[in-house]
Amino acid sequence: TAIYGSASDASKEVAGEVADLIRKRNKSGKKTVLGLATGSTPTQVYGELIRLHNEEGLSFENVITFNLDEYYPMEPHSLQSYVRFMNEHLFDHIDIPEEQVHIPDGTLEEENINDYCREYEEKIRAAGGLDIQLLGIGRTGHIGFNEPGSRPDSRTRLITLDRITRKDAASDFFGEENVPRRAITMGVGTILDADRVILMAWGEGKAPIIREAVEGNIREQVPATYLQEHDNAEVILDDAAAEKL
Ligand code: GLP
Repeated sequence: TAIYGSASDASKEVAGEVADLIRKRNKSGKKTVLGLATGSTPTQVYGELIRLHNEEGLSFENVITFNLDEYYPMEPHSLQSYVRFMNEHLFDHIDIPEEQVHIPDGTLEEENINDYCREYEEKIRAAGGLDIQLLGIGRTGHIGFNEPGSRPDSRTRLITLDRITRKDAASDFFGEENVPRRAITMGVGTILDADRVILMAWGEGKAPIIREAVEGNIREQVPATYLQEHDNAEVILDDAAAEKL
């Protein structure tokens, strides 16, 4: 666990680590494979990566990305889609080739989702696995959309969102009744397979669940506790999110 005075200082540190890896890989002509998250938490990390691209020439031409999750159903152009979110907060501002970006598809026919999820896993493997996975945390303790009850060996799949998660998303959707009931998410096992995992949380609202995640027993009721078993996972907090540790 690392605690910073502000989310922006912490975000710069995280972006710096990501950028260092990309530069190192670029030098040796290798790809960097990033697992990316949405939500308000990682936005300043993306902002800093864009700044490094603009001001220091950090190139994303050799970067491959896999996003954690997407609501289901969801059209990519919808206000709330994670495709739109990622384009606006990162991809539209950097030089990553479109074919190297992967975000779960919220427009699939339901009968095709299982095959699609298997292929998503296969693509991560074929890319060489995730080098760094960025995570936020939901009030339920979810990582990605792995809600309470998710198994440690779960893989990419269609899940049902927790009531609390849908409440927290209500303002984005102009009412809880408009929040989709389901989502496609990488599994806990998919996340734990990453070489490095960085979970970020800012603000006092996250302090109770951060205490559970960091100090609580490892259990499926709080999926973020599974990260305690990863040998290269780090929790990065601002003072407020760390206040109950
Ligand atoms: C959503 C996302 C999660 C994210 C969580 C927290 O549920 N699917 O990946 O961690 O929201 O959101 P925020 O970062 O806005 O607090």
